[in-house]
Amino acid sequence: MNNRIITLDEFIIKRQKDFSYATGELTGLLRDIGVAAKIVNREVNRAGLVNILGVDGSENISGDEVKKLDMYANEKLIDCLKNSGECCGIASEENENYISLPNVESKSAKYVVVFDPLDGSSNIDVNVSVGTIFGIYRRLSNEGEEVQVQDFLQKGTELVAAGYVIYGTSTILVYSTGRGVNGFTLDPSIGEFCLSHRDIIIPETGSYYSVNQGYYQKFDLEIRRYIDHCSDENRGLRYIGTMVSDIHRTLFHGGIFLYPNTRKYPDGKLRLLYECNPMAFIVEQAGGKAMTCDLKRILELEPTDLHQRVTIALGSPLILDEMKTFVKRYSTQAIF
Ligand code: AHG
Ligand code: MN
Ligand code: MN
Repeated sequence: MNNRIITLDEFIIKRQKDFSYATGELTGLLRDIGVAAKIVNREVNRAGLVNILGVDGSENISGDEVKKLDMYANEKLIDCLKNSGECCGIASEENENYISLPNVESKSAKYVVVFDPLDGSSNIDVNVSVGTIFGIYRRLSNEGEEVQVQDFLQKGTELVAAGYVIYGTSTILVYSTGRGVNGFTLDPSIGEFCLSHRDIIIPETGSYYSVNQGYYQKFDLEIRRYIDHCSDENRGLRYIGTMVSDIHRTLFHGGIFLYPNTRKYPDGKLRLLYECNPMAFIVEQAGGKAMTCDLKRILELEPTDLHQRVTIALGSPLILDEMKTFVKRYSTQAIF
């Protein structure tokens, strides 16, 4: 048996050969994201000490200078992408507008990156896992010029790569360039992400469902009926409240993750660009399905706004087919 460790960098370089057109830019970009993930990981692990140390390690008795971890993660990701020269524009959940990046050493970059720097922010203070989500697109505007909003408003089907990092009991980076999904676990003793989950395939079905059941009364009838069905079938409810973690579990154990519309969030809560598209891309690449709660394929939605929200249901293919049946049967509005 070959037990040789394969690092993320090594793997990315090997895979570059899969793309005849690849010039190494995408490879560089994925590596930059890996570096940013290690920096964010370091701070996430020290989060409990932030009140005494401050995020920069200097003493902070008053706590005034303490930066919020989501803003910190945002800055680190932006810094890493800015300095690399492989990325010409960024859109982040934490920034109202997209950011156009200048050329580095007169290289004109052709990729834009969208990300949610810290997902599950309500869980930071209580030592529960959080994540980072990213997506990479080829720019549509001319190289060498400033990026435009249309570069970011691309359908998920146009993603060149997407992935997430989960800062959990271990820190794991999962990504896909459209040829399957692979996972890398950070070995803290050597500071490297090492290939640990090769060619991830989601189970066809599963016995968990993941939804904020506290909002049950606010969901549409068809979703309530489907949740009742999951409960009738004695399926286990699992809900962490960090999308990355809930979907990571779904990817390995199967089942379904849902965030339907509620009165508070009539279009759903989760963001199409930064959260739903990258996670849908990963799940589809692993053999799963991802759709809105009114049964539109997430990756085919036409984005109209950088911070657009959509409803989402994703997971095991057979479970999603089952949900589809319930939605069609009980929906009060004609879907087809
Ligand atoms: P973020 O921390 O990036 O704002 O995202 C939080 C999201 C997502 O991770 C999670 O699935 C969802 O919010 C939880 O929302 P509820 O608390 O409404 O269930
Ligand atoms: Mn999020
Ligand atoms: Mn966030």
